[in-house]
Parts: sequence; C-alpha cells; structure tokens
Amino acid sequence: MFSKPSVTTLLLLALATVALAGNDLGFTYTGFKSANLSLDGAAETTSKGLLRLTKDTKQRKGHAFYTNPVNFKNKLNSTNASFSFSTNFVFAIRSEYKTLSGQFAFVIAPTRGLPGALPSQYLGLFNSTSNGNTTNQVIAIEFDTIKSSEFGDMDDNHVGIDINGLESVGSATARYYAANTEFLNLLLISGESMQVWIEYDGVNKQINVTMAPINMSSKPHVPLLSMNLDLSQILNPTMYVGFSSSTGSVRTSHYILGWSFQINGPAQDLIRSPLPVLPRLGPKKISKLLTIGVPLISVSSVTLAIFVIISIIRRKRKFAELLEDWELDYGPQRYRYKDLYTATKGFGDKELLGAGGFGTVYRGVLSATKVEIAVKKISHNSRQGVREFVAEIVSMGRLRHRNLAPVLGYCRRKGELLLVYDYMPNGSLDKYLYDEPETTLNWNQRFRVIKGVASGLFYLHEEWDQVVVHRDVKASNVLDGEFNGRLGDFGLARLYDHGTDPQTTHIVGTLGYLAPEHTRTGKATTSTDVFAFGAFLLEVACGRRPIDNRASSENVILVDRVFTCWNKGRILEARDQKLGVDFVAEEVELVLKLGLLCSHSEPSVRPSMRQVVEYLERHVPLPDLTGLNLCSSGLMFASGDGLGNFPLFSQSSAVNYLCSHQSSVVESLLSGGR
Ligand SMILES: *[C@@H]1O[C@H](CO)[C@@H](O)[C@H](O)[C@H]1NC(C)=O
Ligand SMILES: *[C@@H]1O[C@H](CO)[C@@H](O)[C@H](O)[C@H]1NC(C)=O
Ligand SMILES: *[C@@H]1O[C@H](CO)[C@@H](O)[C@H](O)[C@H]1NC(C)=O
Ligand SMILES: *[C@@H]1O[C@H](CO)[C@@H](O)[C@H](O)[C@H]1NC(C)=O
Ligand SMILES: *[C@@H]1O[C@H](CO)[C@@H](O)[C@H](O)[C@H]1NC(C)=O
Ligand SMILES: *[C@@H]1O[C@H](CO)[C@@H](O)[C@H](O)[C@H]1NC(C)=O
Ligand SMILES: *[C@@H]1O[C@H](CO)[C@@H](O)[C@H](O)[C@H]1NC(C)=O
Repeated sequence: MFSKPSVTTLLLLALATVALAGNDLGFTYTGFKSANLSLDGAAETTSKGLLRLTKDTKQRKGHAFYTNPVNFKNKLNSTNASFSFSTNFVFAIRSEYKTLSGQFAFVIAPTRGLPGALPSQYLGLFNSTSNGNTTNQVIAIEFDTIKSSEFGDMDDNHVGIDINGLESVGSATARYYAANTEFLNLLLISGESMQVWIEYDGVNKQINVTMAPINMSSKPHVPLLSMNLDLSQILNPTMYVGFSSSTGSVRTSHYILGWSFQINGPAQDLIRSPLPVLPRLGPKKISKLLTIGVPLISVSSVTLAIFVIISIIRRKRKFAELLEDWELDYGPQRYRYKDLYTATKGFGDKELLGAGGFGTVYRGVLSATKVEIAVKKISHNSRQGVREFVAEIVSMGRLRHRNLAPVLGYCRRKGELLLVYDYMPNGSLDKYLYDEPETTLNWNQRFRVIKGVASGLFYLHEEWDQVVVHRDVKASNVLDGEFNGRLGDFGLARLYDHGTDPQTTHIVGTLGYLAPEHTRTGKATTSTDVFAFGAFLLEVACGRRPIDNRASSENVILVDRVFTCWNKGRILEARDQKLGVDFVAEEVELVLKLGLLCSHSEPSVRPSMRQVVEYLERHVPLPDLTGLNLCSSGLMFASGDGLGNFPLFSQSSAVNYLCSHQSSVVESLLSGGR
C-alpha cells in the first residue's frame, strides 16, 4: 500500500478537479491522493488513491472531511433559508465476514473533528450522552449493516437519514430502481462498488437519496428515499462536509472511490469517471488459494519431484556401466555407454545391421566426432573371463593391418559387453555370395578378397607379437568398404573360453567351419583356423554355404561336393555358376584345391597360413592332392574323427536342425546340454 502510485493513479489525480475557490460552490474527486481532506482516526488515502475510512480494524473510527468550510446559507439574507445542495459518491464495504460489518455515513457537521465521538458505536459521530442532543447540529446519511434495535433500525442492510442522533428520521432497505422495473436489492457488504446520490432542495425542503450498483449507466429515475425535511433549522451558515465511519467487532474496510459535491446545482456525475481500483476481493480468494491452491501446488510439486527423481534414477540405470580399477589403463579404448546409446539412437531397430553369432550389431555415429561406427552388443554371463578378454581385445585393438578390422574400443555393462568397430558400409561378404545376392562379385574381386583375408590371418598367426587364433573365420566375418577383404571379429570366441570348466567343453565357432579335432578336444589352434579358412575358400569359389540343407542330399556338404568333382577330374564344375565365363581357370582351380587341402581332417596335413599365402601368390606350387591320400571320408566328416564322434552329430538330422535354425554358433547348443 506504500508502493509507488501507478500511472493510472497519477492520471486520476490530475483529473480530480477542485472548483471551490473563495465561496466554495463545488468539487469533484475521482481519487483522493492530493485531495484537500482532513483525515483523523483510521482514515487514510491509499497509494492507489482510494479513501479508506477504516482499514481492516476493529473498534476504530475514521473521519474524512473536506478541509474548507462550505457556505450553506447567505449570511446577508435574514430569511435564514439554506441553499440547495447535491452530492454523489462511490463506496465499497469490504468485510471479513459477509454477514456482519460496520457502518459509515455522509455527514454535514459544524466541526471537522466531531470531538467526543465513540470509536465503535454511534457511527463515529456521537457518544452516549451527546447522541440525540439537538445542539449537535449534525446531519448524517447512514449506510448501516448492523441492526441496532436500540436506535430502531429496520434491518442490517439499510440507508437512513439521521438528524443529531442515530435514530433515523427516515430509512429504507438498500435497493435500487432498475430502469422501468421494480426495485432490486443491493447488499451493502457485498464488497462491490455502489454509487449514491444525495440531493436537497432548499426551496421545497425535500431530500432525496438514490442508490445504484456501479455498472448502472445513469442515475435511476426513482430515489430510494425521498423526504420532506427542513434542514435550515440544523444548518449553520458554514458547515463541514465529509464521511465518518466506525467498525465494530469485525474487521472492515470502508472505501470511498470518488466524491463530488455542489451547492445550488447538480454534483458532477461519477459513473463514467475513471475511479481508482479496489483491492481484489481478498478473503475469499485467499482462502481458496489456501484451501485448494496450496495443497494442489504442494501435491503437484511433490509429484513433480518424485517424477524427476524417478527419471534421474531411470536415466542412471539406463546408462549405468561397469568400470573397475583394472580398466583405468584402457582409458582411450573405453567408450561411455551413453555415447554409444546416443550414437546408435538407443540401439534402435532402424540402426540394426545384423544379428550374428556373438550378438547384435548396430550402426552408429559418434556425436562428438561424427565418425561412423558399428557397435556389437554381446551378452555374457561369465564374470571371470571378461577381464582377460578385455585385455586381449584392447591389445588387439593396437593391431594395424589393412586386412584386419580391429576393435576400436569397448564398453562394459552388467551382463553385456559392447565392442566398437569401424563401420563397413558394404556389410559382410556373405551378402554378395549367396542367398540370391543383388550383386555378385566377379572373380578378380573374389580372388583379391581371398588373398586379403589370407594375409590378415597370416599376420594374426605369425607376424604379430603373439599368436592370435581367430576362431571364427567365415564369409560373414569378412567385410570391407572397397572389397579388399578385411577380417573382423577375431578373438571374439575367446570370450567364451576364459574361465570355463575344461570338463564342459565349450566349443565356439560356426558349423561347417569347425575342424573335427576342434569339436573333439574343444581346443582352438592355428590349424583349426586354417580348416575354417579352407571352408571359406570353397565358399567364395562356389558361392555356397559350407553346409546348405536346401541342396540335394549329396550336395549338402560343400566340401563333399567339391571332392566329388575333383575325384571325377572336373573340379572346375564345382565353381559358382554366377561367375559366368569371366574367370581365371587356374586361379579357381588353385582356390578349390587349396580349399580341399585346408579341409583335411588331419591337422598336420593342412598347410600353415604362411604356406597358404605362398600358394595363393603362386610363389610355391600347390602340392599334388593325389599324394595326400584324400578321400571323401578323410575330409571333414572323417569316420572315427570329428563330428561323427560327437553325440549330437551322430545323426544327420542334428546337422539339419542346426542349419535350419541358422544357429551359426554351436556354443549354445553344445554347452547347454552338458
Ligand atoms: C486546501 O485547503 C487549504 C485551506 O483552505 C488551503 O490552504 C490549501 O491550499 C488547499 N490545498 C489544495 C491542494 O487545494
Ligand atoms: C433570501 O433567500 C431567499 C431564499 O433563498 C430568497 O428568496 C430571497 O430573495 C433572499 N433575500 C435576499 C435579500 O437576498
Ligand atoms: C460526548 O460528546 C460531547 C461533545 O459532543 C463531549 O463534550 C462529552 O464529553 C462526551 N462525553 C463522553 C462521555 O465522552
Ligand atoms: C445537550 O448538549 C448540551 C451541550 O453539550 C448540554 O448543555 C445539554 O444539557 C444537552 N442536553 C441534553 C438533553 O442532554
Ligand atoms: C426527489 O424525487 C422526486 C421523485 O422522483 C422528484 O419529483 C423530486 O424532484 C426529487 N427532488 C430532488 C431534490 O431531487
Ligand atoms: C450490474 O451487475 C449486477 C451484478 O453485480 C447484475 O445483476 C446487473 O444486471 C448489472 N446491471 C447492469 C446494468 O449491467
Ligand atoms: C436560523 O437557523 C439557525 C440554525 O443555523 C437557528 O438556530 C435559528 O433559530 C434560525 N433562525 C430563524 C429566525 O429561523
């Protein structure tokens, strides 16, 4: 309330006109900020320009009088007659309770102060001894919300004309005459603004009191109170005009918003004037805010807080990863799960490149560097093996060979391992060989891929610091952007090797690429890699899977078919017919024969990768196969060796089962059943 006056208030103050000069004929106030008023008691003007007679207080009175005396009589006229006068004002009563409140009155009195008046009773005008004494010379138009039977009040919502005392000479229930209709009730303590017109005719000695709600466009035609009354006996030549108010036991504020007064003429109409704005109807709004708003706000903020906490926890869980002390050395190779999650768009189906033997592969783009990556997601349960495996992966990450696609890095989560590779836009080689490929590779491309993979595998076996057994050589692990042949996924099978019980032989690899001694002993060696490479050679040259259960029964096993062709002396018949005529017969023959040689069931007969590279480069001629005692049963499914000894593989239906389920990884089947 002591805030700076608003622009509107200043405007209102500027509009307030004071036209009483010398003889004081009239004035108009639309806002009271700089009005010439004498205030006492609780009365004050607010920063918004309202005149507040009493403010939210109990047992108080307040007076506001126009400072200058007003001439009601012509001093030179001996007839003692008083002038006519008229006054308008707009008021509002704001009370703690809608049922009980104080009173206020428009007053014409001989003094500004009304000395001796009681605060709570007698309207702030009189006391018990002075009430009703004719020497008071006080005229009051009261707006009373208390029914005091002591003064003969008609009800608790009335307007009365009082002369020298509170026993009204005339009164009426607050009402207004709405145009051409009946009177409508007005509730004084509604808190709404109301306008009052008081007019006295000095000649006819008649007084009219009219009321209307503030939204009425003009003064009602019919007054609320109309009395014949000679005020000249009460009025002195000069009197003071103003308002008086008192509050009882209930906190009440009495506001006057605007006031005009005129001697011998109509007071200026206030209806269309810009009046100061009342405070919002307080108690009800506040209680609503307290009873509904505050609980609602607290409930919703608690809900919001819980929601935020839950989503933080969820987010933490979602992006949780395992990081142990021993991994700190692998800093650069360690990726944050969150980064991989963002890169692969949350491992969304759209980014899925394929589901291979060891897990699912997703394409991704690292947001920081915009580098395209492939992320392989492997689920694993072994707790012990991971440390050694990660160490190996990281060390192999330092391998640099044009025909190897190394692991860029990794990330660990509970039960999950993520490996990050370079992204190969062309996908894996198998896509171009069989299952009705959209484009097939010509012989030159195939031969280049074969030589590349051989060179990569040779590097793993012999040229690097330590011997690395790949364990899963196959077409679907060969990738490259330019079909140079890059071997990926090496060492991955080791994850399933570490820490496993030697009793539960845990064979990892892909059916058709598994050397017989590998399935028997569970031990992967460079020779088992060579066996797989042999299967790969035949695969590339023939454009078929090593085991194709869709082929006719004698052709299911690719190596058998090639052997049969070789046995008939027509090995080239085994080649991929999709090659057409555009191939180098010597190279195809070399590859097919080398494939047979590598597929020998006896590991010692198989060449080393160094020899394989030499044969392919034709630095050394391929030995004559006839001298090696090759026979169909001496190859992959040699009797007494390999799969024949393996219970699961004793029936051909088992092979068919495995193939039809495309379960390229045998590990799940073989380990699960034992
Ligand atoms: C108020 O009235 C007093 C007394 O007549 C006068 O001296 C003063 O200038 C008036 N002030 C205004 C603002 O009219
Ligand atoms: C005295 O006042 C009355 C009523 O206002 C008026 O009729 C009369 O002419 C006045 N007399 C003089 C001498 O001014
Ligand atoms: C009542 O009011 C009159 C003046 O109006 C004053 O002289 C008197 O002392 C007051 N009496 C009491 C009891 O206050
Ligand atoms: C009215 O008031 C006057 C002055 O205060 C006093 O002399 C007189 O006795 C009072 N009359 C009554 C009836 O109380
Ligand atoms: C009072 O009201 C009556 C009825 O509307 C009207 O005839 C009369 O002129 C009014 N008197 C004054 C002083 O306005
Ligand atoms: C004035 O407002 C009251 C409610 O406060 C409504 O009942 C009445 O119809 C309104 N009158 C006019 C003229 O708008
Ligand atoms: C004139 O009015 C006064 C009140 O102001 C009153 O006391 C006086 O008796 C009146 N005189 C006549 C002659 O009516």
